[in-house]
Amino acid sequence: MYLGLDFGTSAVKAVLVDDAQTVRAATSVPLSVSRPHAGQSEQDPEAWWQALLTALDTLHAGHGDGLAAVRAIGLSGQMHGAVLLDAGGAVLRPAILWNDVRATAECRELETAAPDLHRVAGNLAMPGFTAPKLLWVRRHEPEIFARTRHVLLPKAWVRYRLTGEMIEEMSDASGTLWLDVGTRQWSEALLAATGLRPEAMPRLVEGSQPAGTLRPELAARWGMRPGVVLAGGAGDNAAGAVGLGAIHAGDAFVSLGTSGVLWATTDRFAPYPQAAVHAFCHALPGLWHQMGVTLSAAASLAWWSRVAGCDEATLLGELGMPGRPGDVLFLPYLSGERTPHNDGAIRGAFAGLNHDTGRAALTQAVLEGVAFSLCDCLDSLAASGTRLASADVIGGGSRSRAWTSILASTLGLPLNRVAESEHGGAFGAARLARLAVSGESAGDVCTPPPRLETFAPEPALVAAYAERRARWRALYPALKSAMA
Ligand code: XUL
Repeated sequence: MYLGLDFGTSAVKAVLVDDAQTVRAATSVPLSVSRPHAGQSEQDPEAWWQALLTALDTLHAGHGDGLAAVRAIGLSGQMHGAVLLDAGGAVLRPAILWNDVRATAECRELETAAPDLHRVAGNLAMPGFTAPKLLWVRRHEPEIFARTRHVLLPKAWVRYRLTGEMIEEMSDASGTLWLDVGTRQWSEALLAATGLRPEAMPRLVEGSQPAGTLRPELAARWGMRPGVVLAGGAGDNAAGAVGLGAIHAGDAFVSLGTSGVLWATTDRFAPYPQAAVHAFCHALPGLWHQMGVTLSAAASLAWWSRVAGCDEATLLGELGMPGRPGDVLFLPYLSGERTPHNDGAIRGAFAGLNHDTGRAALTQAVLEGVAFSLCDCLDSLAASGTRLASADVIGGGSRSRAWTSILASTLGLPLNRVAESEHGGAFGAARLARLAVSGESAGDVCTPPPRLETFAPEPALVAAYAERRARWRALYPALKSAMA
């Protein structure tokens, strides 16, 4: 039995996966995000810890035998967030998350201070990444920066609580802008550009390698074996890829989670910062990946559901399966955008409202706006030379057949809904746990899950959506100048 733990933005999830790779138990504890100002997004690391305790206490109560049989634990988590620790390991301020865009000015500063950034880190400076956040703290909270001795990403901080060790793996480390992504080691020059020394960073491992052992008092609390090993694990997208078996060059998926991601596995470091492509390490040795990221995917639907005062299932139910593109356009830039614009200042919009526009039309606009934004990601990957033939769909949004179908016809790609897609990162993390202790090959463990259903692009809709997308694309520059 293997335990996968995913520290997402909206929930902490835990899954128990048996030797036949069947999910035997799953539990989820919700999290909230605090937004002190527009464009800011924070969570208290203690909230992740309390949610984890609740999740594992629940599993212990209902599936104590399963927990007692766990051979290894894998961690997956939201990427890029900065957890700042003092010399004694205490948290200095709330974590600044991946969808926080306060550090926009600091990105320019970093690009100037580190002329090699694009070549070494393989990415543009984006405010969601970790390094610019540290420059923001240095400028706006100098007393906290002065006390900062360690910087951990969310799952590495949880590992620190679980094991007492500061260890990170390559896929998450790639999202800091401090990693030399091609050679898979911390870059002293990039750290120095942010006023940090290598000692501030955790030790690096691959996602499938052992990375600490569970503290004895926690093992006792949950009736687990003494000395149970943690694997390096993965950032949530890389963990999703491991869960899908996306471990061969050209394998692709779309994640409709809080963020929207178009992922392509690569067998080499393939940076293409000019189109805001993310080029990161995979969680397995010798592999990398590219991603296009839109910041608010399921987060846009969640926002619309809050504003409409109506739960998401009802909104999707009254929309049904749209037979043609809607008349309303939606820009999903609620907290700025990464691919392709790298614009932390832009915000969202509805356009084309009339007296008859109702709730269902706005729901459709939200789903389509996110789909168009993922088309921008597809174009960015294509500009870098990466062509995709088909993709799987994971994340909470993948439960919607309407959204998946809209996405297939906007992207022009066959999209597969897969079994257990909602366990995404946690399931992949459990696979990495298995690899860390079993000696098996990644190819044997990371097999594709059963495909439940394939949505083929519908030719008439592909043409209609291409026409709508041309109008949608005109909105960004218009809105940018209107809001400047
Ligand atoms: C990827 C990214 C998001 C978060 C969401 O670069 O920022 O997908 O990992 O949890």
